[in-house]
Amino acid sequence: MCGIVGYIGNNESVPVLLEGLSKLEYRGYDSAGIAVMTNEGMKVRKFKGRLKNLEEGIKHENMVSSIGIGHTRWATHGEPSDVNAHPHTNINASIAVIHNGIIENYMEIKEYLIEKGIEFKSETDTEVIAHLVDEYYEGNLLEAVNKAVDRMEGAYAIAVIAKDSPDEMVAVRKDSPLIVGLGEGENFIASDIPALLKYTRDVLLIENEETVHLTKDKVVIYDDLGREVNRDIFKVTWDVEAAEKDGYEHFTIKEIHEQPKGVKETLLRRLDKDNNINLDGIKLTKEDLDGINKVYIVACGTAYHAGLIGKYAIEKFANIPVEADIASEFRYRDPFIDEHTLFIAVSQSGETLDTLASLREAKRKGARIMSVVNVVGSSVARESDDVFYTWAGIEIGVASTKAYTTQLVAMYLIALRMAEESGKMTHEEVSKVIEELKTFPEKLEKILENKDFIQKFADSQFNNERIVFMGRGLDVSVAHESSLKLKEISYINSFSIAAGELKHGTIALIEEGTLILALATQQKLFDKMLSNIKEVKARGAHVVSIAKEGDTAVEKVSDEVIYIPETMDELTPILSVVPMQLFAYYVSLARGNDVDKPRNLAKSVTVE
Ligand code: M6R
Repeated sequence: MCGIVGYIGNNESVPVLLEGLSKLEYRGYDSAGIAVMTNEGMKVRKFKGRLKNLEEGIKHENMVSSIGIGHTRWATHGEPSDVNAHPHTNINASIAVIHNGIIENYMEIKEYLIEKGIEFKSETDTEVIAHLVDEYYEGNLLEAVNKAVDRMEGAYAIAVIAKDSPDEMVAVRKDSPLIVGLGEGENFIASDIPALLKYTRDVLLIENEETVHLTKDKVVIYDDLGREVNRDIFKVTWDVEAAEKDGYEHFTIKEIHEQPKGVKETLLRRLDKDNNINLDGIKLTKEDLDGINKVYIVACGTAYHAGLIGKYAIEKFANIPVEADIASEFRYRDPFIDEHTLFIAVSQSGETLDTLASLREAKRKGARIMSVVNVVGSSVARESDDVFYTWAGIEIGVASTKAYTTQLVAMYLIALRMAEESGKMTHEEVSKVIEELKTFPEKLEKILENKDFIQKFADSQFNNERIVFMGRGLDVSVAHESSLKLKEISYINSFSIAAGELKHGTIALIEEGTLILALATQQKLFDKMLSNIKEVKARGAHVVSIAKEGDTAVEKVSDEVIYIPETMDELTPILSVVPMQLFAYYVSLARGNDVDKPRNLAKSVTVE
C-alpha cells in the first residue's frame, strides 16, 4: 500500500525522505516521488518503478531543502506511471500533496474543478486534493487543508506543503495510518514507524479524523471539531536492526526462521511457572464469559486462516459457538450481533481497512471487541476493548509467515484461558496443552533443519502449474493458508480443498503430474485421508504428504512424505504450515520472483 513520509527541520530533507521511503518499501509500491521546497521553488520529482529510479533521477540535482514530502505509490486510480506517481500539485506547482487511501467522491470533485477550468495532469484521485487546497488557500495552509478535507469522502492519510507557507506542513488522517515523529528542531510524519526509526523513537500516534500542523519546533494535533488534542509520546523500544535482513537473502526466509523465537515470545510472556495464562491486555472474567453466547472471528487473508483455527480451538476447548468470517464480507452482511457477542479481530498490521470497518460495525452493534494484533499502537489495537499482542516482531515480507504462527499461539491461549475461566477445562487439562505448546520452539527448529530437502523438492516442481493442497479437519485451514502462500509469491494458480469434497467435482481437475500436497496430521481422519490420497494417485497425481513422525502408513500411498514432529492433533497447524511456507518460498525463488514484494500486492491493505 502507499507509504508517506514528510520532513520539516534544520537538516536536509531529501536524505530523510529517501531513507524513510526505503523503510516503507515493504508495504508494496510501483512508483516513488518527492516534493521539496528549495530556494528555486517547489521541486517535484517522481518516477515509475523502484525507489532507485528516483534516487538516480535526482542524484545530480541541487535539491537543498529543509521541508519536503515523499511517497511510494501502489496504484489504485490510474496505471503505474511517472505522471500518476505522487506527489501531485496544483496548476502552478505551489502546493504539493501526498496521499495514501482513496478519495471516494473524487469524480464529483474533479468535475467541479474541471468546470472551473482546471486541467488535470494525472488519472489519480489524489490530484483533486492539490487543486482543492489551492482553491481555498489564502495564506493559511491549515485552514485551506481543513476546507478541502471537508469536501472529501473516503479513506486517506495526506500531507500537504505549500510554496507560500515554507515553514509548515499539514497532515490529516482518516482511516489510513499516520504517525508523527518528534525531533530536536525537526519533526516528521510517516505511514509507519520503521520510516522514522533512524531519526527518532518519540512518536505521536495520530487518531482517526485528526489533523496535524507541523513546524520544525512544534506539532499541534486537532480533532475533527478543530479542538487541540494532547497526545502522550509513544516511545518505540524495538530495534531498527530487527527490520534488516540479518544475512538472509530475503525477509520472507528470515521471518520463516524467526518462528521458533516468535512462538516462544508469544507463549512465554503469558505464562507463569504454574502454567497460569495471563493475557495482560485482556480482562475477560468468568462473569464476562458467562454473558457471551457467540464469538465472531473476523480478518483477511492469512489472518483469516488463523481465525479458522481460532474457531476450532474456542469451540473445542471453551465450548462456545464461533463463526469465522472474511472482513470484506462481514462488514456488509449485517451479521447478528448484540451485547452477548464477542468479536475478535485478527490482524498483523492492525491497519487492514476491512478488518477495522468490521470491528467498528461490531462495536456499533454492542459487541465486546477483542483483537489479536502484531503492531503495537495500531488502529485495530487502539479501537479494541481487549488486545492480545503477538510478539512476532516487525514483519516485512508481504507473505505473512511468523505473524500467522504467532496468531495461532494467541488463538490457542485465548481459547484455553476461556475454557479454564469458564470451567470447561480444569487447570490440569489446560496445563497439559500448555506443556505441549512449550515444546514447539524446538519442534519448529527441527522442521527448519529439513529445509534443504524442501528446497530440492521445490526445485523439482517449480514449473508445475497445477498444485493442489488438501486436508481434512484442521488440515483444511492449513491447506488454505499453504495455497495462499504459494499463490502470492510463486504466482502459480494453486487451490486448496477439503479432501472429502474432491468427489463432488474438483477431482475432474486431477491429471497426470498434478502435484498434490496432502496434509494428513489428524489421527481420527488419517484413514480417510489415505483413501483420498489413493483417489488422486489413481488419476496420475504426484502426491507429497505431510504427516506426523510415526505415521508411516502414509508412505505406502504417497510419492514422498514430509514429516513433522509428533504432537497433539489440535496443535498441528503451527508445525505443519512451516514446510509449506518453505515450499512456497523456494518455488518463488526458483521462478526468479520478487519474493518479499510479490507483484500487485501490498503488505498493509489500507484501502477496500
Ligand atoms: O495485516 P493483516 O494481518 O490484517 O493483513 C491481512 C492480509 O492482508 C494478509 O494476511 C495477506 O493475506 C498476506 N499477504 C498473506 O500472506
